Amino acid sequence: MWFSVVVAAVLLGLVVGEPVAKQDPTSLLSDSTTSLGLSLYHSMVNDASLKSENVLLSPVVVASSLGVMALGARQNTASQVKSLLNVKMEEDKLHASLSELLRDVSDDEERTINWKINSRLYGPSWSKLHYRHDHGKINFRDKRNALLEINKWAEGSTKSKVPEVIKSLPGTEGAVFINIMVFKPHWAEAFGHNMVDNRGFMISRHRTASVQMMHRTGFYRFFEDEANQLQFLEIPLGQNQTSLMILMPFHVEPLERLEKMLTKENLRKWSEQLREQAVAVSLPIVDLNIGHELQKHLEQLGLVEAVDKSKADFSGITGKKDLHLSSFLQATALEITTGGNPFDEHVFGRKELQSAKLSYADHPFIFFVQDKKTGSVLLIGRLLKSSSEENHDEL
Ligand SMILES: *[C@@H]1O[C@H](CO)[C@@H](O)[C@H](O)[C@H]1NC(C)=O
Repeated sequence: MWFSVVVAAVLLGLVVGEPVAKQDPTSLLSDSTTSLGLSLYHSMVNDASLKSENVLLSPVVVASSLGVMALGARQNTASQVKSLLNVKMEEDKLHASLSELLRDVSDDEERTINWKINSRLYGPSWSKLHYRHDHGKINFRDKRNALLEINKWAEGSTKSKVPEVIKSLPGTEGAVFINIMVFKPHWAEAFGHNMVDNRGFMISRHRTASVQMMHRTGFYRFFEDEANQLQFLEIPLGQNQTSLMILMPFHVEPLERLEKMLTKENLRKWSEQLREQAVAVSLPIVDLNIGHELQKHLEQLGLVEAVDKSKADFSGITGKKDLHLSSFLQATALEITTGGNPFDEHVFGRKELQSAKLSYADHPFIFFVQDKKTGSVLLIGRLLKSSSEENHDEL
């Protein structure tokens, strides 16, 4: 009896397991990196110190650094890194697939995505750096020079768009992972340079900041959820393999309500309801630097040993248990402006445009950049304010 239950369970396991095994590795990865991104996003927006801050992170790029970490970690430290990645795949295959996904989604020639990624590990030198990570050497004991060195690298590799990733160094030892990125969405159909004017961005019902906004009416996939008082808009980028998705409440309000609804399941539901229709889109023009120390959020999600000096096991890198992760930084220069592919002006003759829906992003919204092929969330963030300065007016 017991025997047959076990046999049945094993057989069932095989049958149920089979489709997963045959699933395309990039779709497995896309699912895991999206979960990782949403968990990180939730951990960050629940952090009191980020309460009124813009947030932006790249789940795929975080995953790539975790991939590097997994290669150097041993024992329980390694298991924790892998369970954060949460991909049911053999390790060799995982690294190959994750590299391939990262290469594909950031391929500028193929996609015109305009997304530059630089990743570096500061710490002991190590030959097995993957995922286009390079290595930097700093003397942590000389904090002033270490800081200068890190920021000089950031500035140099982003043509000065990210002049500073970090203001102070957390520890005097350990390894530091840094991802710095420059992202400037190149619209599949450009906004007109002459369709730009000054408006107010409503930081809250009582505070507004002057901002330039760009406007364009066209055909977009769009969904209005009346019950939840939110809209979901897809704006294609580059060669249409990537989209910017905007999730915005109908009216200005704190984003907590939408953030609570931000689950994979809801994203899928909203996406299924997108329909191409005439939409008048207005977006703020922004030029922002958004950087985060991700370490404590990764720790909250289970990366506990890696950051613990007494427990971390990165003996795959140093040969000994003498290295831990002291910082994980990600910083992005985000530049949203009018540029993109030229488009067919004949569209403006279509009469549907006269009754276009409005998507007027003059108040806080959540956005993400999604790969259309795999569904991977490449970047996820929220815009609470259109500039980093506090130059707003009380209403
Ligand atoms: C992107 O899609 C739009 C709408 O279907 C189409 O008009 C345009 O030509 C596409 N662009 C590219 C570069 O494929």
